[in-house]
Amino acid sequence: MKETKWWQNTAVYQIYPKSFNDTTGSGTGDLRGITEKLDYLKELGAGALWLTPVYPSPMVDNGYDISDYTGINPAFGTLSDMEELIAEAKQRDIRIVMDLVYNHSSDQHPWFIESKSSRTNPKHDWYIWRDGKEDGSAPTNWRGIFGGSAWTYCPERGQYYLHTFAEAQPDLNWENPEVRAALFAAANFWLDKGVGGFRIDAITYIKKPAVFVDGTPDGADGMVSIHAMTVNTPGILDFLHEFRREVFDRHDIFTVGEANGVSVSELSDWVGENGVFSMLFEFSHVLVQYEDEECWSKMVPWKLTKLKQALSASQASVAREGWYPIYFENHDRARSVNYFFPHGGDTRLAAKALATVLLTLRGTPFIYEGEELGMTNVCWESIDDYDDISSHGQYELALKEGFSPAEAMRFVHFNSRDNARTPMQWDDTAHAGFTTGTPWLKAGKSYPEINVENEIQGPIFTFYQKLIALRKELPIIAEGSYRPVYEDSQQVYAFERQLGDERLLVLNNFYPDPITIDILPEYQNGEVLLSNYEETQTAEVVTLRPYESLAIIVNKH
Ligand code: GLC
Repeated sequence: MKETKWWQNTAVYQIYPKSFNDTTGSGTGDLRGITEKLDYLKELGAGALWLTPVYPSPMVDNGYDISDYTGINPAFGTLSDMEELIAEAKQRDIRIVMDLVYNHSSDQHPWFIESKSSRTNPKHDWYIWRDGKEDGSAPTNWRGIFGGSAWTYCPERGQYYLHTFAEAQPDLNWENPEVRAALFAAANFWLDKGVGGFRIDAITYIKKPAVFVDGTPDGADGMVSIHAMTVNTPGILDFLHEFRREVFDRHDIFTVGEANGVSVSELSDWVGENGVFSMLFEFSHVLVQYEDEECWSKMVPWKLTKLKQALSASQASVAREGWYPIYFENHDRARSVNYFFPHGGDTRLAAKALATVLLTLRGTPFIYEGEELGMTNVCWESIDDYDDISSHGQYELALKEGFSPAEAMRFVHFNSRDNARTPMQWDDTAHAGFTTGTPWLKAGKSYPEINVENEIQGPIFTFYQKLIALRKELPIIAEGSYRPVYEDSQQVYAFERQLGDERLLVLNNFYPDPITIDILPEYQNGEVLLSNYEETQTAEVVTLRPYESLAIIVNKH
């Protein structure tokens, strides 16, 4: 293996600032709230914190609609709060990673306000403008990712603008070199402030096809998902290599692209020495319960083998080159204990089983706030309880597709991004100790039991701590090769890691029922490195208890 980079050995912790810690009583989390909790994050073992967007924003999509790329949203604090956070984090050897949302801006960004003002202004082509069809309807039948047409008519110009996501998120025109230069300059501004990396949002949508045409409708609304029409359009890598040259290569940072639509076989063009990013978030393992990408209403029964195949394929694809970010939760997904363990039983054991997988696979682990406590989904009765713009879009579309309101709510319960966006659960006082005011989103019902105060000495948090520390101690975990074993098992996800003659076997029972397995001969007398149960041993035949994880090491160095 080539020289290990700092970010290959680091546990990254993702913070959703709006929901993390409110120090002002406004009901919204803030930057000082993050600074206040740095010792907690240090205690966990985090080496980098990825903050979802903290820039000025009308917050139509919770900050993914940016109106100033080099400012801080006053709801979160000031630029000097950000500088203080970066400095305080640095003192604890923690780097701050920012989110770059460069496919689109807010419709309140001065660039867009200028662009929409006429067809001749200096920024007239900073966004994607087209005339309507002859009958005046939208230029194409593309549906935005949050539902509804991907085009919105602008009376000032008598034209439509394109938005891959919400109407308030107009897509930037990357074909224009001035746009690219402005975006790169904003990223360099943050690097000069000492930021340690970037997560790059929705990056596979930045290149649009040369000609815009209608697609075959895929829904009752007669539209086709824009995803199918624009994702990963050829030529995109030219833009991205320029991005790398102008920004990433200048600093010792890591970059992780959100790259829905890049297949495993294309990964080497995107990551590693000849690629663009340090890592790419992949989606296959979090989409195993859907028939198709972006098709949240077509669900398929849970199958562990699908998850295993998805994870093994990703591990294999970056085996030679590149690096892999491992994650099971983020601000766009349901809570992992609900998603990956639909069979009930003790979710606390399940949380530890998933922690074992997260922290013993090859790659950089990303932990989402509250995952280290085993936080669970919310299940609110009314759509009005939900804030998430995409939940509302899904609900509407489900009704249009003929589902009953109760069925539409089932999709919301399962998919809503609010599952992950409820306030961080600090203690059992009102609103989970997140705010002294009224929280922007209700706290989850579980907070009287599941909260930091209860958990900091508890089984899940301490297990995370132990695993993060172990990763740093044992190079085999970060760097060793990966090989799936017991591949046909419908109940156990197991893999082997190897570095020189050192070998590690990781077994995880994903079900609430016990299962007996024959241990591979070379591990029968091995040392138990890790288990989520007390009193565990290895033998020729082992019965894995409900959600048991067991790691056995031989020739430990
Ligand atoms: C990404 C973000 C998501 C956001 C979308 C539009 O998928 O993770 O939260 O809504 O991009 O920016």
